[in-house]
Amino acid sequence: MKILVTGGLGFIGSHTVVELVNAGYDPIIVDDLSNSNIKILDQLTKIIGYTPAFYELDLCDEQAVKEFAANETDVKGIIHFAASKAVGESVKLPLKYYRNNFFSLVNVLNAYEGKSINFVFSSSCTIYGQPDKLPVTEDAPVKPAQSPYGNTKQVAEEILKDVIASGSNNKIISLRYFNPVGAHESALIGELPLGIPQNLVPFITQTAIGKREKLMVWGGNYNTPDGSCIRDYIHVVDLARAHVAALKLMEKSTFKGIDFFNIGTGKGSSVLEVIRAFENTTGVKLNYEIAAPREGDIEQVWGDVTKSAEKLNWKARLDLSTMMSSAWDWENYITQNPL
Ligand code: UD1
Repeated sequence: MKILVTGGLGFIGSHTVVELVNAGYDPIIVDDLSNSNIKILDQLTKIIGYTPAFYELDLCDEQAVKEFAANETDVKGIIHFAASKAVGESVKLPLKYYRNNFFSLVNVLNAYEGKSINFVFSSSCTIYGQPDKLPVTEDAPVKPAQSPYGNTKQVAEEILKDVIASGSNNKIISLRYFNPVGAHESALIGELPLGIPQNLVPFITQTAIGKREKLMVWGGNYNTPDGSCIRDYIHVVDLARAHVAALKLMEKSTFKGIDFFNIGTGKGSSVLEVIRAFENTTGVKLNYEIAAPREGDIEQVWGDVTKSAEKLNWKARLDLSTMMSSAWDWENYITQNPL
């Protein structure tokens, strides 16, 4: 079964391509290479044993997307990762985010409207802001967005609801990711941050290997047991498998319309706990210091994953130690074998 994977050479996209092949699907990758590397296609080839179909395409180009859809008529599912995702950049360049994230979504939906597509959308726990109750459930209120990036995820979910309400014969699942980290066990694919990493785990591994001098822990006086922020870190391979589970659920005739799922482990870890897990797993001491809080950071969030377990039939299996060891193996690989 052909599955279009937009942004399929990115961090989560590439891991999902592997899991799709493992589950017997036939992925077709579309990527504009704006935040990914074409050599990831060779890395995927090494893992899955053949080169998956790949098209370099800007999904904001409506005509190009229509032509693509006219040629690829037997696509049965779409996993839509392609989007800009840097929170800080989105504050400085809001129009880039509204253009990239909305145009691509609308163009893809438009091109395949009326084709009974199963559509998986990459959403984020950022839509909950700082939840009133933890763990946060899918029916928690969506808080005012903290950034244009967060707003694109909130509005995208509204767009998807409106499409279903209009009587579309597509089915849609929106997966609300918590914090994806780690890498494939082969260490052939992983996160490839451009420039200085903004996210915690790539900053940890780059510091440990000597690319960065010191990790700053943003805030040590939060109202948490050790004073540092808490997040629900999830192994990217578990997250990738959640997309396969979403497709399987939509293939059932009992599934109708649209649904939303938290994709996390259900367990929060503080920044200091992540650092300790990294040090214990790898045996490498990390140079870090507690610094002032980062503007706009949320104090603590982790997900209630009961609904995902019950309806999506999916659960995270890999623990924090595996997340750290695989991220470290990838950092070592990519340092010795730059793409
Ligand atoms: C961020 C975004 C989120 C987005 C996600 C995508 C914000 C407020 N949220 O999540 O919307 O979906 O990235 O990947 O930007 N930390 C440090 N030192 C560092 C880096 C991070 O202490 O050098 C801490 C942060 O304060 C935070 C935790 O590590 O507590 C995780 O940070 P990060 O990896 O940036 O993810 P989020 O902020 O949770």
